[in-house]
Amino acid sequence: MRLGVCYYPEHWPETMWEDDAKRMKALGIKQVRIGEFAWSRIEPSPGDLRWDWLDRAIGTLAAQGLEVVMCTPTATPPKWLIDRHDDVLAVDANGRQRAFGSRRHYDFSSDSYFEESQRIVRLLGERYGRHPAVTAWQTDNEYGCHQTVVSYSASAQRRFRGWLRARYGTIDALNTAWGTVFWSMEYRSFDEIDAPIGTVTEAHPSHRLDYQRFASDEVARYNRMQVDILRAHSPGRVMVHNFMQMFLEFDHYPVAADLDVASWDSYPLGALEVMWFPPEEKARWLRTGHPDFASFNHDLYRGMSTQPFWVMEQQPGPVNWAHWNPHPLPGMVRLWSWEAFAHGAGCVSYFRWRQVPFAQEQMHAGLNRPDNRLDVGGVEAERVAQEIDRVEHAAGALAQPRGKVALLFDYSAKWLFEIHYQGADFQYARFAFDYYSALRSLGLDVDIVPLDASLDGYAMIVAPPLPVIPDDLPARLEKSGAQVVFGPRSGSKTVSLQIPPTLPPGALQSILPIRVWRVESLRPQVTEPVQLGELKGRAAHWRDLVESDDAGVQTLARFADGHPAVLKHQRMHYLAAIFDADFTAGYFEQVAAAAGLAPQRLADGLRLQRRGGLTFALNYADAAVTLPQAAGADFIVGGPELPPQGVAIYRGAQE
Ligand code: GAL
Repeated sequence: MRLGVCYYPEHWPETMWEDDAKRMKALGIKQVRIGEFAWSRIEPSPGDLRWDWLDRAIGTLAAQGLEVVMCTPTATPPKWLIDRHDDVLAVDANGRQRAFGSRRHYDFSSDSYFEESQRIVRLLGERYGRHPAVTAWQTDNEYGCHQTVVSYSASAQRRFRGWLRARYGTIDALNTAWGTVFWSMEYRSFDEIDAPIGTVTEAHPSHRLDYQRFASDEVARYNRMQVDILRAHSPGRVMVHNFMQMFLEFDHYPVAADLDVASWDSYPLGALEVMWFPPEEKARWLRTGHPDFASFNHDLYRGMSTQPFWVMEQQPGPVNWAHWNPHPLPGMVRLWSWEAFAHGAGCVSYFRWRQVPFAQEQMHAGLNRPDNRLDVGGVEAERVAQEIDRVEHAAGALAQPRGKVALLFDYSAKWLFEIHYQGADFQYARFAFDYYSALRSLGLDVDIVPLDASLDGYAMIVAPPLPVIPDDLPARLEKSGAQVVFGPRSGSKTVSLQIPPTLPPGALQSILPIRVWRVESLRPQVTEPVQLGELKGRAAHWRDLVESDDAGVQTLARFADGHPAVLKHQRMHYLAAIFDADFTAGYFEQVAAAAGLAPQRLADGLRLQRRGGLTFALNYADAAVTLPQAAGADFIVGGPELPPQGVAIYRGAQE
């Protein structure tokens, strides 16, 4: 468990660097990330390489024993590079080329940018690859940020055709898979296929889905290029990319597979503000963030990281980029840091060392204020550094957390539901989060895993709406022995986005013999009551209408109009709608108990996480709480009475 910081020596007079490095060290910082936006200082004009300042910056940090996470600067190609090649800037869905003047203004499919990137990455690798202080490399910065995964440029279109050829082999196979006979959209060759934009009404959904899959593959290809070069020049160093929070525009699993560490950038207050949360939730958690939001991302990235995941950027105070930017309650920077470690983080790195008084992010806090006095976040980071020492002294190195509950996560489900939505608010990320949040409110530790993960050892597996079922998944779920819960719309489409011939849930029918014969989406404010014994709730957003002629299928709950709402066949459970949070948690509680787990309804805002024989308790609420089952526990941090925004770390409590 170590702390890091993001630092921009190019923003500050060189006379400040040594003092900065000394103060970082004194604060307890171990690693410093630099360079991700510094291309115009490294190469102010084509081929004019200025390493001297960067050599000195690295040397200054190294002299204090700080490790350097060196970044490739490819998120910000300089002006001269844009002017040299006319295909670097990406093209948006309106066919308009993006402009220079911010960042991420490049097209993953541009050949010239691919080559320019190879060149600058190689130069950096040659220069710093074997530097003893450089222990890790970050590729680029936040792939896809600012809606930059998909480009509709001529280069993207050309590469898309090649991608389709490789996927389908013949144009007839593509025509059949997509169903292009509808509206006379049949193609005679791959060369006739354009990007799916500019059509009169909606473009063919299978075409759009494939375009998104292609764009996702382009990100993986681009990252792999950088990683391959860096590995060759920088043996033994850790390869990492900083992914974003709840960002689903490309499939992260294949990208992470090429790295050693998946890291992510955690901005709990900004996220709450810009994501789907209803206004009352935004107000409720205004200065803390939602109690399950950061942890969802921790558990997601832990599940794709070969080595312990990192938080590469941790919110240290107010951000600048949401509609409203409140400041965190005192204690939250500490709580967020401990929450990351509780979920398995190997490093929490704060963004940024000092608030910068110019340009786009001048209103974004740092550990230090622009006047160079330590800010609140800096004080809390220092406390975390001291507490890390205490915890490691008491408990040694902590093993990674391992949940008994797995949540199956699939990036392409998001694309499919967005492209073919049928109900305007059917949002995969939100529903996956709601299931996760229900499980966490029951005190359960959750692993978020991809569809091809090993399912051994899980007692309960939850699949948020999962439209496309891989061929081998039903058998693997059966073999796992776990209680399995599926959300609505599971198995509703084939891989080419068609209705399965035997109706949904298609491939799942081998383990769950039901048929969804009709669906309906529900506009906001429309709900359908449901009752399961004592448990009452409401469905919103969506309903599957289900039939079955298998005597082994039990209908556990029905809607008021008689349609089945919750069904079960042996260990397989099917939720035929999106239910409210209490009903979902109530049902999960029953399933978890059936799975032999010990679910417990936690106090509002309290969250628990187990790691390496320790329990971490975090209080997001504005009232103190008494920890459940902490009698006789040996507290390393905090005690059984947890104040608002408090953290307790203990061992020996009853599980
Ligand atoms: C991240 C980004 C950083 C900085 C930060 C501000 O998305 O990687 O460069 O912009 O947000 O919160």
